[in-house]
Amino acid sequence: MPILTHAQARACYDRIGAWQDTQRFYEGPAVREVVRYGGFESAGSVLELGCGTGRLAETLLDRRLEREARYVGLDVSPTMVGLTRARLARFEDRARVLLTDGSPELPFEAGSFDRYLSTYVLDLLSPSDIRTVLAEAHRVLVEGGRLALVSLTHGATRPARAIETIWTRIHAWRPALVGGCRPLDLRALVSGQGWTVQHRAVVTAFGISSEVLVAMRVAGTAAGPTRGSQGSGAGDG
Ligand SMILES: C[S@@+](CC[C@H](N)C(=O)[O-])C[C@H]1O[C@@H](n2cnc3c(N)ncnc32)[C@H](O)[C@@H]1O
Repeated sequence: MPILTHAQARACYDRIGAWQDTQRFYEGPAVREVVRYGGFESAGSVLELGCGTGRLAETLLDRRLEREARYVGLDVSPTMVGLTRARLARFEDRARVLLTDGSPELPFEAGSFDRYLSTYVLDLLSPSDIRTVLAEAHRVLVEGGRLALVSLTHGATRPARAIETIWTRIHAWRPALVGGCRPLDLRALVSGQGWTVQHRAVVTAFGISSEVLVAMRVAGTAAGPTRGSQGSGAGDG
């Protein structure tokens, strides 16, 4: 299975830039569901991996989060970081957007955040990066903090299964044509890793199925960072 390297993902999303928001036609319903069930109203701090154009961050800061809640967004693409910074300029006292080198290892203390949010990002990472993302989310969340994820998933309807087949073939041929994303099973990925699933749904829009998963961090083992992650670090770039 071809996976974009961090450098390829950066180049791909630098090219896509603001066009990412045109994907709303199938991403919108699943993203609204994670916002509804993510408990953002009671969060004092949110970390988002792969913030893209900052559309979701703006919605949260504008309509869901308390005025004193802080937001940190991370992205590997300088173009996306620039778009998010511009979009969140009016929240500059409580929002930070950092450029990373793509490493899922985070430069934050344990227990620094109430929510770890990521929509349509795990599905473009390698299996070892996904394991590290989940272990790092477990580490940086407070006890009782929530992981809020959305990803492409396997087709839940007959048309969605047909589209998944075409999508997967394109991904196998040229992953960048589908933004590097392929269907995942989020529930299986978090199972037994120190999470209690609080909400899970598969939402199909325009023949594309997405999995929404909200899980609470509980004490217990999370698989540690694995060798094979590419590089590490985040900065104000
Ligand atoms: C499919 S887009 C999703 C953007 C946004 N979350 C959304 O739902 O619209 C994937 C985003 O993840 C970013 N990304 C890809 N690999 C990454 C990595 N290893 N670390 C951080 N961000 C990454 C891309 O630059 C892009 O902004």
